Amino acid sequence: MALERTLSIIKPDAVAKNVIGEIESRFEKAGLSIVAMKMVQLSREKAEGFYAEHKERPFFKDLVDFMTSGPVVVQVLEGENAILANRDLMGATNPKEAAAGTIRADFADSIDANAVHGSDSAESAAREVSYFFADDEICARA
Ligand code: TYD
Ligand code: MG
Repeated sequence: MALERTLSIIKPDAVAKNVIGEIESRFEKAGLSIVAMKMVQLSREKAEGFYAEHKERPFFKDLVDFMTSGPVVVQVLEGENAILANRDLMGATNPKEAAAGTIRADFADSIDANAVHGSDSAESAAREVSYFFADDEICARA
């Protein structure tokens, strides 16, 4: 087992629904620790840079519109196999396909407003964590 860090975002739809605490509780109950967090309103530039891998996709403009439509909670989760563990808790990108009991099945309305983001690999986790947090903003946990 590997202790990993992954970037998680609670997206504007979930913040607007007032379910930040319910989502955080799922991470904590699954053994993931929040080791950095902030609530921010993303600029278009920041959102476009974050999702740069998707910039040629047809949904890119709508994705940036959505991610800048209201505040988000950006955080680093730490734990054993945190990257995959977070993806499992999130469920499939399209909430209609997300397994019962996952965050997206329970809180997301559509594929574009789907409640949460999670890094999908060790490489993207490293990039995404450092995109939002300096090393000294991440707190060591036992
Ligand atoms: P992606 O990285 O494929 O999904 P995930 O968030 O599960 O890693 O896509 C990034 C986001 O882009 C996704 O969360 C919602 C949006 N999106 C759409 O709006 N339409 C689509 O068809 C896809 C694939 C993604
Ligand atoms: Mg992705």
